[in-house]
Amino acid sequence: MATPESPNELPIPQHVAIIMDGNGRWAKQHNLPRVEGHRAGAENVLRTVKAAQAIGIKYITLYAFSTENWKRSIEEVTALMNLLGEFLDRYLPEIQANNVRLRAIGEIERIPFWARRKLKAAIAATENNTDATLTFALSYGGRREITDAVQKIARDVLAKKIAPEAITEDTLQSALYAPDIPDPELMIRTSGEFRTSNFLIWQLAYSEFYITPVLWPDFDENIFREAVQAYQKRERRFGERPPEK
Ligand code: FPP
Repeated sequence: MATPESPNELPIPQHVAIIMDGNGRWAKQHNLPRVEGHRAGAENVLRTVKAAQAIGIKYITLYAFSTENWKRSIEEVTALMNLLGEFLDRYLPEIQANNVRLRAIGEIERIPFWARRKLKAAIAATENNTDATLTFALSYGGRREITDAVQKIARDVLAKKIAPEAITEDTLQSALYAPDIPDPELMIRTSGEFRTSNFLIWQLAYSEFYITPVLWPDFDENIFREAVQAYQKRERRFGERPPEK
């Protein structure tokens, strides 16, 4: 794999986005309540971030809670919010020690106040960390993100800060939740589903997808490396024709 010392080797994706799916099925396989699947899933988050750092990935974005997840039972929603709070309490020191910056994208104001407070504190405490950026997509929906961006641009049009004809893809990109984060080159989805489920729909326009049947709590560094190797074998063309051989 490419490193600064051996730049001619295959490229490492800068940004990998992951849909952490299959916690419920994992719990069922182990005869446990659903929430235990989510707990095992939450326990896999930091392991995955460390694996990303070991591989040399700079940005990792995890789909932790979608706008649609609010429709799950109150018990499950509460359990997921509790797990977020527990994750931050338990792992913030390690996130700091590993020089990881924490960020969040989504309708964060919908997260219960007590969990949001911990989240904001963790984001502020890690903002100068430089080895990798872990972004949680929380109460996140790709269509919502684009809708929010359009509203922001419409306000700028009304305020005469920009003319409608001057709106470009870059204008929309700049109005997204985290415009400075590069688009993911690779998107991984666990548990064998072939859907984007409203995750980063703008940013994934040219990403390579890697679907593994492994359930999220069982996802590990070996599978992560397999996904990166599969990405490295693919030819990214961005709609162009491959050069004549
Ligand atoms: C999908 O599994 C997963 C989720 C809806 C949430 C992902 C959450 C975590 C990994 C834990 C909490 C996260 C943090 C931020 C610490 P599913 O329930 O849809 O699984 P199923 O399709 O097998 O039922």
